[in-house]
Amino acid sequence: MREILGGEFAESFGIVFQRYRREDEGVIDLDSNATTAMLPQVVEAMLPWLSGNHSNPSGSYRSAKLARKAIDEARGHVADLIGADAEEIIFTGSGTESVNAALHSLDKLCGKGAAVVSSIEHSAVLRYVESRGREVVIMPVGVGGRIELDFLEKACGTAAYVSVMSANNETGVIQPLSELVRIAKENGLSVHTDAIQAVGKIPVNVRETPVDMLSMSAHKLHGPKGIGALYLRKGMPFFPLLMGGGQESGKRSGTENTAAIVAMGEAARLAKAAIQEGAPVQISAMRDAFEGRLLEKVSGCLQNGDRDHRLPNTSHLSFDGCDSAGLLILLDDAGVACSAGSACMTGKSKPSHVQLAMGIPEQRAKTSLRFSFSRLNTPDEALEAAEKVAKAVEKLRRVQGHGVGPVVIYTS
Ligand SMILES: Cc1ncc(COP(=O)(O)O)c(C=O)c1O
Repeated sequence: MREILGGEFAESFGIVFQRYRREDEGVIDLDSNATTAMLPQVVEAMLPWLSGNHSNPSGSYRSAKLARKAIDEARGHVADLIGADAEEIIFTGSGTESVNAALHSLDKLCGKGAAVVSSIEHSAVLRYVESRGREVVIMPVGVGGRIELDFLEKACGTAAYVSVMSANNETGVIQPLSELVRIAKENGLSVHTDAIQAVGKIPVNVRETPVDMLSMSAHKLHGPKGIGALYLRKGMPFFPLLMGGGQESGKRSGTENTAAIVAMGEAARLAKAAIQEGAPVQISAMRDAFEGRLLEKVSGCLQNGDRDHRLPNTSHLSFDGCDSAGLLILLDDAGVACSAGSACMTGKSKPSHVQLAMGIPEQRAKTSLRFSFSRLNTPDEALEAAEKVAKAVEKLRRVQGHGVGPVVIYTS
């Protein structure tokens, strides 16, 4: 494997992995909520299905049956990560497709009434519900970025179904999902959760929190891009989004991407092991060291979102007076990869809908950056990154302090 990948290796949680190196050698990757690097074990698991066995898993010959067996094993690993049964997992072409398939089905299944979602959902949810012609009720969040439960109680009377995220992609704030599910169920409503940021980072269990559907994406947990999964509770009626050859028990037609599915299974298996071995605690220690250093060292640095209900890997910070677009350029130059708002919004100067929904003033929202760690980061990197961020803030403030109008930063 090392021969295939080349480069420098390190070990964490018993996993040998390739140190993060992109074209830009030495970059510290603090953008794991956008995507994660594939683990070598994941690449290794998928290789035989890329260059060895190319059979259609629906075939009747031996090599096809092997592909089917590999898909079923992967289904078991994904189910295991969220406490589901293998038959409850449907593979999809992305996290976005998983979300759209869930909402499509709920839309067909549920009679009159509103789609109830939160104001901080990912665009995969917001754009879909807006396109249906059904009334959409948006639940507000408090200053900490958590959904207000009182609002759901009131909205239930006119609701058809509920879709809320498990954890937010920008702030990392974990939502009160168990209470939301309880309220929805008491009112006879079906619930979908976009758990794309939560799965693989914190324990998720669909038996303890009995949602009807849950969306996941492999590339957020060290698997490949372009593969996701939908958990569909046993007995829950389902109307497929994609119809055709009847793959995935008729719930998602299209010839299966065996390599990507096998890789997602391996990523799920490794994520479960890492969570059991204490990865969330170790990642939050790195995040807290990074954040603590900045809050202490940099004046006008503020943390956004509920501190006590956060993914262990995410730090969302504002830097008073610093335009986040300028900071991103300086940090890119210094070798730190991170995001302003969500990755999908980088490059737009508009503050994100998530920050505005939390009541963060527009001026402050434009100075926010998201730093997101993974188990491939090291404690040394976390501190080095904090120094680099502090320097970038100081430099930008110095330049902006001259009051010369729009800032142009020339990078080396
Ligand atoms: C909360 C959330 N939902 C949905 C998605 C979309 O997932 P994918 O990139 O796999 O389509 C993302 C990805 O950024 C996300 O963070």
